[in-house]
Amino acid sequence: MERTLVMIKPDGVERNFIGKIISIFEEKGLRVVALKKLKLSKEQAKTFYIVHKERPFYESLTDYIISGPVVAMVLEGENAIKKVREIMGATDPKEAEEGTIRKLFGVDKEKNTVHGSDSPESAKKEIYFFFSEYELIGAEK
Ligand code: CMP
Repeated sequence: MERTLVMIKPDGVERNFIGKIISIFEEKGLRVVALKKLKLSKEQAKTFYIVHKERPFYESLTDYIISGPVVAMVLEGENAIKKVREIMGATDPKEAEEGTIRKLFGVDKEKNTVHGSDSPESAKKEIYFFFSEYELIGAEK
């Protein structure tokens, strides 16, 4: 069993797709271990996306991610990190495969509706960025 962090970005929350997106993950066998809706501060957004700090889109990305509420969740399943990334589709919705969340709902590279951790290291960092140990309730509990 593996855990990963998924964030529904402001464009997904704004267009009322929270339930639809969670359903897609659940239908593919992933389970919700933790879930919350919140609005990030600019400082929090800059920390969350710190790996992109040298990228030209860092300022715009962090401004966008604080433009409205997001939903953060921890999902659990076999190969959850890879599975979630497959279900989300390519970063650019134009390049995403049919049936993926970004193909279905994504607007552009920035407003691409969902974020998912890209490695076990970032999953751990991102899970504890949003949640405390006591908030993580796996199927075994
Ligand atoms: P995400 O999975 O949240 O991780 C970093 C984000 O940066 C990525 O999704 C995109 O939303 C965003 N991003 C990546 N490349 C670009 C780009 N060229 N222009 C704007 N945003 C980008």
